[in-house]
Amino acid sequence: MSRPIHALIDLTALEHNLSVVRRHTPRSRVMVVIKADAYGHGLLRAAEAFKSADGFAMLELDAAIRLREAGYRQPILLIEGFFSISELALFERYQFGTVIHHSEQLEMLPVYRRAGGLDVFLKLNTGMNRLGFTPEQFPAALESLKSNPAVGQITLMTHFACADEPNGGREVARQLQCFNAATAGCNLSRSLANSAAILRYPETHADWVRPGIMLYGASPFSDTTASELDLCPAMTVSSRIIAVQNLRSGDGIGYGHIFHADRPMRVGIVAGGYADGYPRHASIGTPVLVNGRRTRILGRVSMDMLHVDLSGIESADVGSPVTLWGKGMPIDEVAQSASTISYELLCSLAPRIRIET
Ligand SMILES: Cc1ncc(COP(=O)(O)O)c(C=O)c1O
Repeated sequence: MSRPIHALIDLTALEHNLSVVRRHTPRSRVMVVIKADAYGHGLLRAAEAFKSADGFAMLELDAAIRLREAGYRQPILLIEGFFSISELALFERYQFGTVIHHSEQLEMLPVYRRAGGLDVFLKLNTGMNRLGFTPEQFPAALESLKSNPAVGQITLMTHFACADEPNGGREVARQLQCFNAATAGCNLSRSLANSAAILRYPETHADWVRPGIMLYGASPFSDTTASELDLCPAMTVSSRIIAVQNLRSGDGIGYGHIFHADRPMRVGIVAGGYADGYPRHASIGTPVLVNGRRTRILGRVSMDMLHVDLSGIESADVGSPVTLWGKGMPIDEVAQSASTISYELLCSLAPRIRIET
């Protein structure tokens, strides 16, 4: 038998979550964000579940090529664009769209030869202060694109900094107002909304939405659960107990003995650790399912193993199934206990983990 940890990717959950996006955004086209190997779910696996999407957004050129070569004909947008002139031949050959966020990219553009071949998402910095032209720089950037014969369709875009925050509404409104003011009079498509904006701010939906995390069944919000949003977890990471320890009162467990039993207790040792992508910073008490029952992790997560409290789960023994996150064990709760977010857990799934569908 192989090491029991594995991830189950539920394609119907991915399809369902895309339908939730559609329900919220009936008048927008949907560009599914499948960067970082589709947030750890597997690029081509996720693309198949999202085959009805209107477009794909990602930032790894090699992954974009794989997607095109797998036969997907929809627009594929590279959301950091190209990094050097040498990449432009690939944009031309595979008909990728590009985000343009910086004047250096505009300067490289003349190398692109196919007239009208390059669809561009022109990025405006409305307050995220990461990528994009300022409102002051924006008119010249737009003019430069309009006068370039290689450029096909132009879409105007921005990205929200605080749409997922409990009190993010004011900043979303401010960024939206900034975007609308800067782009007033431009008769071009627009794209603004990530998952949080799709779910909470319908006024941001515009022509193209760009959902990421909600497609994978996690909540972008700390104050609303995925199930309250009708999202289904697409990745379930499971393993089994491979040993049981009977601790006496006062015994410590694992590296550093950061947990000591205050009474005799049974502890299960689970095949799964930080080299599998389980967060080392998960605190004592992080929830986990054993035999379908909710319990907690104890002690320090090590490279290949972690420890779970079997108090009250008499049926649990070597071989018992353990759910680390996914169906029945919301990833958002695990992430919160480890001072991180679901995005990081999903993207950290280790290559050594067996994937099943
Ligand atoms: C430009 C852009 N749009 C959309 C998204 C999707 O965001 P989310 O996963 O929060 O829906 C991302 C993700 O980081 C992004 O960088």
